[in-house]
Amino acid sequence: MNTIQRAVLIRSYGGAAAVEVADIPKSEPKEGQVLVRVRAAGVNGIDWKVREGNVRNAFPLPLPIVLGAELAGVVDAVGTGVSHLQVGDRVMGAMGRLGAYAEFVTVNAATLSHTPDGLDDVGAAAIPVAAVAAWNSLNHAGSIQSGQRILIHGAAGGLGGYAVQFAKRAGAEVFAIAATADTDYVRSLGADHVIDYQTQSFEELVRDIDLVLDYVGGEILDRSWQVLTQNGVVVSTVSPDILARTPANRRGLWFMNKPDPELLERLAEEVASGKLQSRISEVIGFADISEAIERNRTASRAGKVVADFAL
Ligand SMILES: NC(=O)c1ccc[n+]([C@@H]2O[C@H](COP(=O)([O-])OP(=O)(O)OC[C@H]3O[C@@H](n4cnc5c(N)ncnc54)[C@H](OP(=O)(O)O)[C@@H]3O)[C@@H](O)[C@H]2O)c1
Repeated sequence: MNTIQRAVLIRSYGGAAAVEVADIPKSEPKEGQVLVRVRAAGVNGIDWKVREGNVRNAFPLPLPIVLGAELAGVVDAVGTGVSHLQVGDRVMGAMGRLGAYAEFVTVNAATLSHTPDGLDDVGAAAIPVAAVAAWNSLNHAGSIQSGQRILIHGAAGGLGGYAVQFAKRAGAEVFAIAATADTDYVRSLGADHVIDYQTQSFEELVRDIDLVLDYVGGEILDRSWQVLTQNGVVVSTVSPDILARTPANRRGLWFMNKPDPELLERLAEEVASGKLQSRISEVIGFADISEAIERNRTASRAGKVVADFAL
């Protein structure tokens, strides 16, 4: 058995040059784990945030560390105490930590879902972080009710594309904010009102918002308090310091995603059946992951970027 495999990792914090493709040992699944042969992995903002050391206080991680927060692949070996997965099963999931950019990864079996028939591995790898984070930031952290008005910053992004659809389905009036090039896309997802952040200021156009989903952060968060109703809330997936930035008479909540395999399986079925749209803007090869991580930080995009390990 080949015990060496390729992985995308960092040995120290830094810019794009800190990321390298290296050979590392393949590990054996321990109790409660499976070994997954990874076929595809989604690229996420957490990759460059960890790379740069931005989140080292919130998530202390031992270096070197393999990057990659979500994967799809096939079970290659099963540890003791795992009964619901077998060798050969197609699986998908969020790591709950990092490590997905390796040819083989040991994963806590309880965090994985079966990949539905009708969904290929690249399609599956786009869903675990973004769709689950969008659903839970909207429904749990945000508690959206039918008839409420919701404003979504980053509506064309990985999370935003799903959140627009979930909010519309919940009966909300949806204000979606996106770049000029993506306004038709977010409208096609069901947004009732589309605001182009490159030419318009949302705070001059909207009022009485019950829920703001902040998938952008920074000054966008700081400008959002003024559009809320008296009981309105801002939920941010980007600014962990939101509580400190919340004005006295306002409500702000930090949202932290966790693997949710049951929800993931349901949402993946919806993607497979065409009920939920899942946009992949670019499919890259394993060797291009480092570049894609950097582009996640710097470049414009709608939807998800996924690495296909067969390329
Ligand atoms: N806390 C958690 O558990 C958690 C989980 C998942 C993701 N996240 C974080 O949540 C954020 C969103 O994730 P994502 O995967 O959806 O990122 P993404 O795919 O990069 O989407 C962000 C979107 O925001 C758009 N955007 C940039 N500036 C904007 C503005 N001023 N107004 C409106 N839209 C703007 C971008 O468009 P352009 O590129 O065209 O400008 C892009 O389409 C990231 O920071 C990510 O790291 C956190």
